[in-house]
Amino acid sequence: LVDITPLLLSRIRDVADYPEPGVMFKDITPLLADPAAFTALTDALATVAANTGATKVVGLEARGFILGAPVAVRAGLGFIPVRKAGKLPGATLSQAYDLEYGSAEIEVHAEDLSADDRILIVDDVLATGGTAEASIELIRRAGAEVAGLAVLMELGFLGGRARLEPALAGAPLEALLVV
Ligand code: PRP
Ligand code: MG
Repeated sequence: LVDITPLLLSRIRDVADYPEPGVMFKDITPLLADPAAFTALTDALATVAANTGATKVVGLEARGFILGAPVAVRAGLGFIPVRKAGKLPGATLSQAYDLEYGSAEIEVHAEDLSADDRILIVDDVLATGGTAEASIELIRRAGAEVAGLAVLMELGFLGGRARLEPALAGAPLEALLVV
């Protein structure tokens, strides 16, 4: 088995002081532009989907869409978008969550999730865990089971993993890279 860590790491660009001073932004666009790296990432996350017994993939707007949709196709599963509030036309469930300053809200089409579903949540980065925590809550409230959370990158120093422990309730958190 080939270790894809160096390939993935080599295609993530650190951008200092973006979007604000003191923040080191992890830019994944070089990874997306490299077909070998993007394919390796997709295959690795699709393996997580298979190992968790997921029946559907949820992607978190926006970067979780880019990663999650090909994972769903690769794993032979349906894809469900969790969107920022106000973008879905049908009946939705909403979940508000706190940001460092202010708050945000995410939504999902209620009809997309049922009690038979085991959901793998996919996103690019786990930082504070606020976004992922809200998505777990949303999926549970919709009556579905959370099979796990899979991210390309975990920013370990922000403590997101510990924050998510209660919400995940034993479901796995798979991070391909911990930085
Ligand atoms: C970023 C990132 C994760 C989230 C992680 O999304 O893509 O979804 O923040 O942060 P957290 O763990 O502290 O919640 P963001 O909403 O900034 O932008 P995006 O629409 O480009 O994905
Ligand atoms: Mg995001």
